[in-house]
Amino acid sequence: DGKERIPVDYVKGIMQTIPTCNIWDQIWNFQAKSDDLLIATYPKAGTTWTQEIVDLIQNEGDVDKSQRAPTYIRFPFIEWIVPSMRSGLEQAKQMPSPRTLKTHLPIQLLPPSFLEKNCKIIYVARNPKDNMVSYYHFQRMNKALPAPGTWEEYFESFLAGKVCWGSWHDHVKGWWKAKDQHRIVYLFYEDLKKNPKQEIQKLAEFIGKNLDHEVLDKILHHTSFDVMKQNSMANYSSIPTEIMNHSVSPFMRKGTVGDWKNHFTVAQNERFDEDYKKKMADSSLTFHFQF
Ligand code: PPS
Repeated sequence: DGKERIPVDYVKGIMQTIPTCNIWDQIWNFQAKSDDLLIATYPKAGTTWTQEIVDLIQNEGDVDKSQRAPTYIRFPFIEWIVPSMRSGLEQAKQMPSPRTLKTHLPIQLLPPSFLEKNCKIIYVARNPKDNMVSYYHFQRMNKALPAPGTWEEYFESFLAGKVCWGSWHDHVKGWWKAKDQHRIVYLFYEDLKKNPKQEIQKLAEFIGKNLDHEVLDKILHHTSFDVMKQNSMANYSSIPTEIMNHSVSPFMRKGTVGDWKNHFTVAQNERFDEDYKKKMADSSLTFHFQF
């Protein structure tokens, strides 16, 4: 299985697939516009969920409008490029404003124009244990990423930051540090699970939309895991199976907090916690929920 997978290289120390490395200069020089909205995440932190919420906020709860195209067409993914599909960069360039864009880039790799143009940015972080589990299963099913190896091997790769888009710790810390100097709202997957209406309201406020409770409840319903899992415009089922094989692991896999407990051994958990303490010591970022 590993043999047919995409090769990778490093951009400024961050692992990326070769197609992305090949157009890195173009990505770095991407020209953001001041009315662009950017959704930034570490992979598997709740990007697709946030995208669906944002789309419905922008369209004031009009579900038919959010059905106009799959997530990956509605929101150009700026650094993404796979053979036989239009690159995120091309998509973004052809999209009329106002655009809502997606990135997984760590802050130091973000094309500078986003901050120069003072774009609004939504960042979503997920607790690292569930994030790791979700990413492992995603790399199993997504041929456009390297094969993850065994769970034990993946656990080590993730802790070493030797996965595409680099270290989880550096990613969440980097964006956390940037949030006070820029127009960044920093959200957590676990808060979205626990109190979705409040978080949706927070997003609506950030985007500048005043929505009544009826609309908020409609958005709440359409962005629940069960509804999104069945939504062919949000569940990635339209990606060719040669790239994403949902029978290996569905894109809409579990959508829960705490699935790491079904994957981590006691020893892995201890090792993780010790490593976490060291890597997060230089940041004020804390995950205020159990993980
Ligand atoms: S990607 O490929 O980086 O864009 O993936 P991303 O969307 O960030 O993360 C996918 C995980 O988010 C879960 N998900 C949801 N959870 C709760 N509610 C909703 N509506 C929802 N939509 C997607 C998805 O199931 C993946 O998590 P896991 O833990 O693997 O199930």
